[in-house]
Amino acid sequence: MTEGDVGGVLLSRDELSVRVTELGAEITADYAGRAPLLIGVLKGAFVFMADLCREIDLPVEIDFMAVSSYGSATKTSGVVRIVKDLDIDLAARDVIIVEDIIDSGLTLNYLRRTLSARNPASLEVCALLLRRDRQVPDLDIRYSGFQIPPDFVVGYGLDVSEQHRNLPDLHSWR
Ligand code: IMP
Ligand code: MG
Repeated sequence: MTEGDVGGVLLSRDELSVRVTELGAEITADYAGRAPLLIGVLKGAFVFMADLCREIDLPVEIDFMAVSSYGSATKTSGVVRIVKDLDIDLAARDVIIVEDIIDSGLTLNYLRRTLSARNPASLEVCALLLRRDRQVPDLDIRYSGFQIPPDFVVGYGLDVSEQHRNLPDLHSWR
């Protein structure tokens, strides 16, 4: 077991829902007449993806990719390994990477490099959470939900050692 406890609610299910609806509307407007391919990064993005895709009023397609970053329970090392690759070909597609949280941005940087080598028509990122002041420069994140403080967070798909992904609200971890 990982040391620590579920702390207070940082973002309630209602706050999350309002923002996810806005992000869906923005994507719907920006991609009008197109059929974007949403790529969820497992496992953390699974709840966000489920809510986001239902707020996009376009013929979207969904795929998932699982990556594992080497490191401890609460730190990323930046070394990423693809554990489950995509089923859908990215060539000429309008791709949106759907991420739970961008901390250092190392995972995202790796994914962006890997996926842009597959010749999509466009490649953008939609991240629910950005950890304030932590990302490497030049990370170009087109859609983002919330900026959050440095504390580790759990719930709404995010885990600590695979626990607490099913909490409906986003909590701090202390
Ligand atoms: P990065 O490579 O440092 O940007 O780390 C991003 C990945 O680390 C996310 O996709 C999460 O899986 C994980 N992560 C970072 N911060 C948290 C957190 O506060 N709670 C749960 N997972 C996190
Ligand atoms: Mg994780």
